[in-house]
Amino acid sequence: MTSVINISKRIVFLSSLFDESDRVGDIGSDHGYLLFLLHNKGVKRLHGVENKKGPFENLKRNLNQFLSPSFTISLNDGINNLPKDLNTLCLSGMGGNNIISILKKGDYSFISKLVLSPHSHYYELREYLQNHNFEIVDEHIIKDDKYYLFLVCSRREKPIKLTDLELKYGPCLLKKRDPIFLFYIEEEINKKKDILAKFNLDNEKIDKLKQEINELNRILHVNNSL
Ligand SMILES: C[S@@+](CC[C@H](N)C(=O)[O-])C[C@H]1O[C@@H](n2cnc3c(N)ncnc32)[C@H](O)[C@@H]1O
Repeated sequence: MTSVINISKRIVFLSSLFDESDRVGDIGSDHGYLLFLLHNKGVKRLHGVENKKGPFENLKRNLNQFLSPSFTISLNDGINNLPKDLNTLCLSGMGGNNIISILKKGDYSFISKLVLSPHSHYYELREYLQNHNFEIVDEHIIKDDKYYLFLVCSRREKPIKLTDLELKYGPCLLKKRDPIFLFYIEEEINKKKDILAKFNLDNEKIDKLKQEINELNRILHVNNSL
């Protein structure tokens, strides 16, 4: 890896969610940019996993000069054969449903922190986390070429039970009401209004869209607490 010029705002932001003391397994490392940034940041234990030969070879080529007994990579399916000295997992740039199916397939009982950046199935992922004793301790949304969501989660004996609205839109995002989150909500409202205006929908679909718009409007206009 010779240059950081092409590393996206998304990956740079993702790297800010880890502490130097985290021992990180990055599942689906692909290009390896996150691992590279974390290595530069001083994270002492790093492990990258890829399940496809092409991306794995690319990963090896990109990171070759940095690899050592404490900076390792492997060709594996998800979290099978995960080194037991890790305490943090990153799963980023994939659907929430894929994140769930990767977590379901292996042992991560020794992992205490998850950093996740799903691009779909947010509700299902938050529900899975809650049901598997992970509490969402922080959430972020950023806009790069599009909106990206990030969840930071800690293992708890009994995580707080989330409401339906929190499962949909995120407990921390709803509480913090960052401007980018509110822009995102506004865009979601406009997208749904466009669909109502442009398509000939049956009554059931119209009612559902109107309900969703009302719910989003309540998030937008509520006075700081939900
Ligand atoms: C779209 S890329 C995202 C790469 C990087 N994490 C990011 O955020 O930019 C998803 C990567 O996950 C890998 N992947 C998907 N399922 C996987 C699995 N079960 N085990 C390991 N890697 C997987 C894919 O091969 C691909 O390289």
